[in-house]
Amino acid sequence: MTLVTDVRLRRVLDSRGNPTVEADVLTESGGFGRAAAPSGASTGEYEAIELPPGEAIANAREHAVPQLEGRVYAGNQREVDAALRGADGTDDFSGIGANSAVAISMAAAKAGADVLGAPLFQHLGGTFRGENFPTPLGNVVGGGEHAADATYIQEFLAAPVGAPNVTDAVFANAAVHAAVADILDERGESCGKGDEGAWAPSIDDAEAFEIVDEATDVVSSDVGFEVGFGLDVAASELYDADAEVYRYGDDEKTTDEQVEYIADLVREYDLVYVEDPLDEDDYEGFADLTERVGEQTLVCGDDLFVTNTERLRTGIDLDAANSILIKPNQIGTLADAFDAVELAVRNGYDPVISHRSGETEDATIAHLAVATDAPFIKTGAVGGERTAKLNELIRIADDAL
Ligand code: PGA
Ligand code: ZN
Repeated sequence: MTLVTDVRLRRVLDSRGNPTVEADVLTESGGFGRAAAPSGASTGEYEAIELPPGEAIANAREHAVPQLEGRVYAGNQREVDAALRGADGTDDFSGIGANSAVAISMAAAKAGADVLGAPLFQHLGGTFRGENFPTPLGNVVGGGEHAADATYIQEFLAAPVGAPNVTDAVFANAAVHAAVADILDERGESCGKGDEGAWAPSIDDAEAFEIVDEATDVVSSDVGFEVGFGLDVAASELYDADAEVYRYGDDEKTTDEQVEYIADLVREYDLVYVEDPLDEDDYEGFADLTERVGEQTLVCGDDLFVTNTERLRTGIDLDAANSILIKPNQIGTLADAFDAVELAVRNGYDPVISHRSGETEDATIAHLAVATDAPFIKTGAVGGERTAKLNELIRIADDAL
């Protein structure tokens, strides 16, 4: 019933106005799945390769589509994803592009779910029990590679850790986003938004901490549960490898100073989450920080691990972190992303399922988060391509309970 009969690929728009790859997968019995690849701006050095969409589509049509149509079953994700890897023939998907691969992989999963008449999260092996919903981390202030003339730290993320249900959590993050706007307004700091919908004021990082701390406090007392916050430092973008320092404008920090700085921030602001606090090659720096604050907060590797089990294994051996960001397009297929989650969980690492700065309406990651029972999902706070995932989480909860 789930034999793949057609794979169609096209270029569609992403949230930055760039083209990206969308895939349709059709099956023998009329099953249908559609998915689109997201795209990063602060991309990790070790990520699978995203090709220009036109090239990715042409290469996938030539090499992958003939290996899929009439040959694999959409209901068998491992078979689909192995066929994609085999057709690509490289370690990093530079043959057909990780963008083509991930779009086809996710579209096949949806087609498999469609044939079964099951929601995607269930087809992917998950259940929704209500009390275990993934807590959304909502980007409310940011800069880095996502906005010019804004903070050095890429993302300040609202974290409604005390929320009793997913709907309250989603609305709490939107409330923090609105509260930040009010505070910025009071301070006369008008500003636009970055790529993920976070406010991108021209303020220094210290002021951003004050503002987000105040906004989360205000919302916490309004909603009556704990709303904390966390960071994606995206430190690889700040690191100058030649000088071996982190550059915050004219300010610079050695690795030891960077570890100290982040550890102090964790203590001062009770940060619940710190992503990429150090450069993507610095397992030792990560381990040093994790030793200091790993009991209090999640130290999460994004560019460090790039959803790659080999890199995660190295991190586990060195006690480099206690959490891993999972972005299916960093590795190329859903099966690979599941392998990373499984290895993480077996070793006590919390998986955090994540969007990219360039997104579409595709809501696959909402299902992936529920399917893997991930404690967190990072998918912005506002903006259509972000609310697509948040509203899907609300629907999943509503349908499942
Ligand atoms: P990116 O940013 O999608 O631009 O890589 C998101 C992140 O760093 O987590
Ligand atoms: Zn990141």
